[in-house]
Amino acid sequence: MSQSTPLNVIILAAGQGTRMKSKLPKVLHPLGGKPLLAHVIDAANLLKPAKMVVVYGHGGQQVLDTINDSSIVWAEQKEQLGTGHAVNQAMSDIDDKSIALILYGDVPLINSTTLSDLINQAGNDSLGLLTVHLEDPTGYGRIARDQHGQVKYIVEQKDANSEELKISESNTGILAVNGAKLRHWLSQLKNNNAQGEYYLTDIIAMAVADGVEVKTAHPASETEVMGINSRSQLAMMERAFQRQNAEDLMAKGVTIIDPDRIEVRGDVEVGTDITIDVNVVLEGKVKIADNVSIGANCVIRDSVIEAGVEIKPMCVIEEATVGKEAIVGPYSRLRPGANLAGGNHIGNFVEIKNSNIGQGSKVNHLTYIGDTDMGSGVNIGAGTITANYDGANKHRTTIGDNVSTGSNTVLVAPVKAGQGATIGAGTVLRKEAPAGELTLSVVKQKTIEGWKRPAKKK
Ligand code: UD1
Ligand code: MG
Repeated sequence: MSQSTPLNVIILAAGQGTRMKSKLPKVLHPLGGKPLLAHVIDAANLLKPAKMVVVYGHGGQQVLDTINDSSIVWAEQKEQLGTGHAVNQAMSDIDDKSIALILYGDVPLINSTTLSDLINQAGNDSLGLLTVHLEDPTGYGRIARDQHGQVKYIVEQKDANSEELKISESNTGILAVNGAKLRHWLSQLKNNNAQGEYYLTDIIAMAVADGVEVKTAHPASETEVMGINSRSQLAMMERAFQRQNAEDLMAKGVTIIDPDRIEVRGDVEVGTDITIDVNVVLEGKVKIADNVSIGANCVIRDSVIEAGVEIKPMCVIEEATVGKEAIVGPYSRLRPGANLAGGNHIGNFVEIKNSNIGQGSKVNHLTYIGDTDMGSGVNIGAGTITANYDGANKHRTTIGDNVSTGSNTVLVAPVKAGQGATIGAGTVLRKEAPAGELTLSVVKQKTIEGWKRPAKKK
């Protein structure tokens, strides 16, 4: 293909997806947390197309609203009269001089390298057809070749004779060809076949009749060209996709204890010598630096985990930053805006939200820290709570360097504990705790002499 030939992508996404038994249009069902159609769009975008037209039908507005991409041209197919008819709905937006590439919204794992290869096969003068040899080609269109191995036509399963049914080379449906030629052939399609549909596949025989050579390309694996029609196929595809994610991470230097028990639902950036234990879910944009270890059953979303961090099992970390060498968990919850400077210990049943935790500060047991600016070297006693909400507004708590709070301290915001302050166990801090001093709420301890525990009546 000459550099100047623009690429026009057509994605067929009008299918109803009856077998999904869902109110959600099939192409919006998520794979790795992202709609099927979005996978196809992302793969196509890697080819830098001049134009992308998506043919939609079933669930129309919902599809447009979810994908919400202003660079896409949407073409409605009101009635589903076959793949050829579907492509025709896009043609008013396709340039005659372009190479038109036809993709499918329910074939999510197609790889852009395979597509570049296909486009190169097509060039300006040929038709590029993506085919695959299947052990069981049932249901697929078969690729008929002549004695010289040249592709002659495609015959659909339902129209095939017994000889044709023996062919294992199958049509993936994906093809690339000059826009003007495609337009010309589509205008000549007829629906006099077993399904009464306008078959896109009929353009192959037309190309051959017009002396246009059909050149084939092949996917690197079958999963690339597998379509999704049912929830069972969706689940199988999810496993294949996650296996690939695991392989990619391992290739970058991550140890994954069980590659079948990790879920990547977004973009993960990794350093090396990271260890990830079983059942870890990584969502959104997650950045994990060198020498991090992540324990079993953690969910990490849109967060940055800096070098040398140890995340013990059962943690949920969202929109947070975990600074170098920190130890988090087990059972810690870091909510949006939790920023740990590094060297911290965050322990069991600790929740931190919208707070800056200074270098080396420790929050080890049964604590809620919200809307707080905490200095370095702080030790927060078990059961310390920042009461940040007065029922109407949120207020901040300031905790200076080297503060130590006793167990069961309540810091009623807005409030401040000065640098080096010590706060006695059980204190309800409503006024500033001065720097360097011991502050406590004194409730005099008393003993009721001779008091007896109630005894059970006989
Ligand atoms: C099609 C091919 C077949 C190929 C197979 C690969 C034709 C005639 N047959 O068959 O050779 O082996 O795909 O999976 O092309 N669609 C629309 N509008 C329509 C009809 C279909 O948008 O009017 C979309 C569907 O949503 C789907 C795709 O086109 O994403 C393929 O349609 P489908 O009906 O599944 O075609 P097959 O019979 O499987
Ligand atoms: Mg199909």
